[in-house]
Formats: sequence, structure tokens, C-alpha cells
Amino acid sequence: MFNSIKLKLIIWSLVLFALVFTGLELTLYYKLEGVAIGFVDSHISSEVGMLASLAATEEKHGQLEPELYEITGAASGEYADMLSGRYFQILTHDGEIVTNSPSLYLADAMLPIVIPGAEGVYDIVDGPTGRPIRLFSKAFEFEAGTYIFQAGDTLDDTNLLLSSFRKMILMAYPLVFFVCGLGVFIVTRLALGPLRLFSEKVGEITEEKLDERVDASLMCTEVRPLAESFNVMLGSLENSFDKQKQFLSDASHELRTPTTIIKSYCDITLSRNRTEEEYRAAITKMGSAVNRLSEIINRILVISRLDSKTVQLKLREVDVFGVVQDVVNLLTGAAETKGIDIILSGTEVSVCGDKEGLTEVFTNLVENGVKYNKSGGRVDVSVAKEGENAVVVIRDTGIGITTEDQAKVFDRFYRVDTSREQTVGSGLGLAIVSSIIAAHGGRLELESTEGVGSTFKVYLPEIGSVA
Ligand SMILES: Nc1ncnc2c1ncn2[C@@H]1O[C@H](COP(=O)(O)OP(=O)(O)OP(=O)(O)O)[C@@H](O)[C@H]1O
Ligand SMILES: [Mg+2]
Repeated sequence: MFNSIKLKLIIWSLVLFALVFTGLELTLYYKLEGVAIGFVDSHISSEVGMLASLAATEEKHGQLEPELYEITGAASGEYADMLSGRYFQILTHDGEIVTNSPSLYLADAMLPIVIPGAEGVYDIVDGPTGRPIRLFSKAFEFEAGTYIFQAGDTLDDTNLLLSSFRKMILMAYPLVFFVCGLGVFIVTRLALGPLRLFSEKVGEITEEKLDERVDASLMCTEVRPLAESFNVMLGSLENSFDKQKQFLSDASHELRTPTTIIKSYCDITLSRNRTEEEYRAAITKMGSAVNRLSEIINRILVISRLDSKTVQLKLREVDVFGVVQDVVNLLTGAAETKGIDIILSGTEVSVCGDKEGLTEVFTNLVENGVKYNKSGGRVDVSVAKEGENAVVVIRDTGIGITTEDQAKVFDRFYRVDTSREQTVGSGLGLAIVSSIIAAHGGRLELESTEGVGSTFKVYLPEIGSVA
């Protein structure tokens, strides 16, 4: 569950959201606090300034202190109401109270005494009611000496505003958190929808439905390459499944002919008593069918081992000319009985290869040259060096292969119809040849003209050019 992309996205976005939201709310809170206190400050500082300038004007009409009493007595509005939350107080430079606002003296209260400089100081102190007030104290020079003017405003309204803001944030927090979580959930669900669709489609594809494909055009841009790669993979899987099925059905088909021959000889021979010669003839026929059977089975075994790469090529320095010479010597006798000459030419070339595998390659190719030849024909085998390759050319003067069949003769079990009628074979020879050559990092080329002959060219990397 914790491996789910959706869950991870939701958790990470909520964590991010919580950090951003908290940061934003804290900034807003402190800004608001600053602005609210700023309002109070500007009020109390202008009150102090006004009182001081009034005092300066009044000083010219008489003695300062009696004038200050007069100013105080004339205080109006909230300054005149007892403990209203708005206060002022005037002190001598020693901190002795000269006078204060009716809001204070009516309750026999006073503001905390602060001795400031000429630039003034702001404080938050406990007011006469015990609740916090903002206090501004500033010293002014008069002809009669230095006096300190103080003005204080209650912070009740400011604190109320701030606490309402705090409450609002605390209430909004879980709500916004929930809405944000829900939003991320919906968005991720929508965003991951194509992936879910893709996985559903993939889930529908089973072994029996390998021909189905995921419609990549329905996928979003991000998932489309994945769907396309999946389709390509499915295509090669289907191809290889089909090949396996085809191989199995072709193999069974090929094995059926000799098995049917053996079975019918058994049935016919055992249907009545036979002479010794008849038994001998039947067993000989059955023997050749068994030979054919074991030949096919061996070839199937070789090709399936090559496919599954269970046969390790024993790579070592091999003299190609020597291998080809051995093959030619082995096949010359059989070729001569068919009136076909095998002519070998060329030079010594060494490759890094598997001697047995290469023997199999050249045996198959020279054998084909003899098998699909005409009486009196010839097979020319030449070994040469061409660039970085050893090149073995097997050219025959045989029946040739049509252009259409040239593309198919390397397929497993494929035999040209005319060959099927006139010769015995499994159709696996060239498939084995091309697999072995590919495993050596080489290549095989075919040129053929029907009725004129065929040329197979084997290119094998020379020693030193094989990794
Ligand atoms: N040199 C050739 N000339 C004409 N046709 C050829 C030649 N070599 C191969 N073919 C055609 O290609 C088919 C496949 O050849 P391949 O060697 O794979 O099988 P095969 O010779 O029929 O049987 P196997 O080699 O397994 O005994 C042959 O049946 C034949 O029709
Ligand atoms: Mg063959």
C-alpha cells in the first residue's frame, strides 16, 4: 500500500501544503499584528505630540505646570471616562507625576513610569485595569525644564482582532487541509487514469490473445511510448510463440512419415507368415525409416540446442581450408556415384570458430550442392580471404532456387516442392547452417538462378576481428 504512487503523491503534497500554508499564515499573522500595533502607535504618538505642542503654546501664557493642569482638565472623549482604555500622563524629568487624564485620576490610577529620551519609547505594559496597554513615553524640553509625556491605549481591540484571526486560521486549517487532500486525490486519480487503463488492457492480454494490442492512440502523451514499446514486445513475443507452434507442428509432421512407414511395414509383415527373405526385406526397409527418424530427431535436437544456446561453441583457431577439405573428401565418393564432381580450390585461412559447428555448416552446403544437382554437374568449393573475412563459396550447377523460394529456404522444415518429390530431407539443414554462422558473427549469402545453379557464400570473421 505504501508503494502506491497515489498515496505518495497525496502525502507529499499535503506535507508541502502544510509547510506553505503554515508559513503563509504566520507571515500574515505577524503582518497583521504589526499593522494593528502601528495604528495604536500612531494614535498614542500623535496624542503625545499634540499634548506637548499644546503645552508649549500654553507655557507662553503663564507658568507651565498650572497650564498643564488646565490641559488635563479640558480632556474630552474617552480620555475623560474612567478607565476607558485611553490614558495620558505628564511627569517631571525625575519621574514625578505632574498630571494625568481623567480616565486615570478618576480611578486614582497611574501609568507605569518610564523615563525616555527625546526620541521616545514604545512599551507594552500592564494598564490600570491589569490588561495590557501600548505605552508611548517621550521627553520634551520647555523653558521650565524637561517634562515627560506619556500616552497609553488599550490593546484589547488589537488582541481581539489577532485572536479572531488565530481562531479563523485554526478553524480553516483542517478544512483547507481536507479540501486540498481531496483535490490531490481527485487529480492523482485522474492523472493516473491512463496508467490504470493501460494496466487493465495489459491484464486482458493472455497467452491465447497475443494478437491483441493496446491502443496507444487512446493513451496520454506520457503513457503512449510505454504502450508502444509494450506492443513491440508483444509483437516479438507473438512471433516467437507462433514460431514455436509452427516448429512443433512441422516437427510432428516430418516425424509422421517415417513412423507411418515403420508402422505399415510392421502391420503388413505380421499379417501372415513370411519367408526369411521377406522378413529381412521388411526389417531393412524399417531400418532405413528408423535411420531417417533418428536423423530428423538429431537435427531437431541440434536446432533446439542452438535456439536455447545450451550448446557452447568451443571457439579456437580453426583452419577453414582444412575443414572444407575434410568435408569434400568425405562427400566425394557419394557425389561420384551420382556423376557429380566436387572441385576444391583456395588458400589457408584461419578463423576463430567451433570446428564441429563449421564442419556441420560446410557438410550441409556441399551436400545440398550434390543433392540438388544434375547428373554430370559439378560443385566448386573455394576458400579465400576477403578483407577481414574468410570467405567460402559453394557453387553448384544444379536445379537452382526461384527468387521466391530463396527467401524461404532458410526457414525451418521448408523444402521446395520439387525437392520434396525427388529427394529425402528434413528441411532443417540451411536453418542449422544460418544459426551456426550467426553464432560465429558471420553471414550467409545466396545467389541462384533456376535451372542454372546456386552459389552460397559464407563470410566468417578472421582471427583477431572476433571480440
Ligand atoms: N544447392 C541447392 N540447390 C537447389 N535447391 C537447394 C539447394 N540447397 C537447398 N535447396 C532447397 O532448399 C531446401 C532446404 O534445404 P535444407 O538443406 O535446409 O533442407 P534439405 O536439404 O531439404 O534437408 P536436410 O538438409 O535437413 O537433410 C531444400 O529442400 C531445397 O529445396
Ligand atoms: Mg540440406
